[in-house]
Amino acid sequence: MITSPKTTLVLGGTGRTGRLVARGLAERGFAVRTAARHGADVVFDWDDPTTHRAALAGVDRVYLVTPVARTRFAGTVADFLDLAVGAGVRHVTHLSTYGSDRAPPEVDILAVERDLVGRGTISHSILRPAWVMQNFADDHLPIVDGAIVVPTGGGAEAFVDAGDIAAVAVETLARPEAHAGAVYAPTGPRALTVAEVAAILSEETGRPIRHVDVDRDAWVDGAVAAGFVPPDYAVMLRWLTGTIIAGDGSRPNGDVERVTGRPATDFRDFVRRNLAAWVVQAAE
Ligand SMILES: NC(=O)c1ccc[n+]([C@@H]2O[C@H](COP(=O)([O-])OP(=O)(O)OC[C@H]3O[C@@H](n4cnc5c(N)ncnc54)[C@H](OP(=O)(O)O)[C@@H]3O)[C@@H](O)[C@H]2O)c1
Repeated sequence: MITSPKTTLVLGGTGRTGRLVARGLAERGFAVRTAARHGADVVFDWDDPTTHRAALAGVDRVYLVTPVARTRFAGTVADFLDLAVGAGVRHVTHLSTYGSDRAPPEVDILAVERDLVGRGTISHSILRPAWVMQNFADDHLPIVDGAIVVPTGGGAEAFVDAGDIAAVAVETLARPEAHAGAVYAPTGPRALTVAEVAAILSEETGRPIRHVDVDRDAWVDGAVAAGFVPPDYAVMLRWLTGTIIAGDGSRPNGDVERVTGRPATDFRDFVRRNLAAWVVQAAE
């Protein structure tokens, strides 16, 4: 059990969940150190192990965001965790992905979870969130000429607010002993098709927005050709979209409310709170 809290190292500390995890912990009186390549409290680069030791000095908890848009990272993360344990880390909350137990073997998502589970000297909590609502508000799924172009067919997903993922993470990092070994799958309160998402966005922004379903392989090839993701990441994009197309997308499960004590954010409320994001997109 952790008895004298020191500092939480928040990897991906400038990202969509990390910056909110850092803010949430600070609001609860915990010492926090954000880490990223740019703009965080400390410089941390997964590709530069010389940055890892300094980031871990005096740290006893870690919010683990693994290298993004990569497929093979289990070895790098294992080396980091070895270092972390040696530096005094006693709990890790890991940001994984919904359905990670069914992820393609070419991607190291489940391998990192298994690494954590196999470490006897530290506790862990694993978060497996659904697709985040923020995808529709930033450059992940931008609205171009009034269309959200993504191959999801008529399948639904229980999109979750990154703020709710962060709130769950904060609970686990604030009281590791209460969440040791837990696996939570933060979701929103409703499973929505992208056509339903587009309809809500139309109503709330006052401009027509529609879902354009496209051939999955063409969409994935386009993302690689445009340089949005490296070629080996195509397998991940195929899996993520294929799951929804097949009707196996995430479904609401109540984990956010169970852990935080408040209901998960509804997509319409998320849009109302973040309307400025779509005003900016429209102006671009
Ligand atoms: N998008 C979704 O719908 C969704 C759903 C479930 C799970 N996830 C998972 O969420 C994770 C991403 O988390 P997020 O959305 O909170 O973050 P994010 O917004 O994607 O931001 C990525 C963070 O990682 C940092 N970063 C990027 N490359 C790095 C490197 N080489 N070394 C160190 N730090 C690096 C970035 O800062 P710098 O660039 O300055 O380094 C930034 O702080 C991914 O593992 C993804 O699989 C995403």
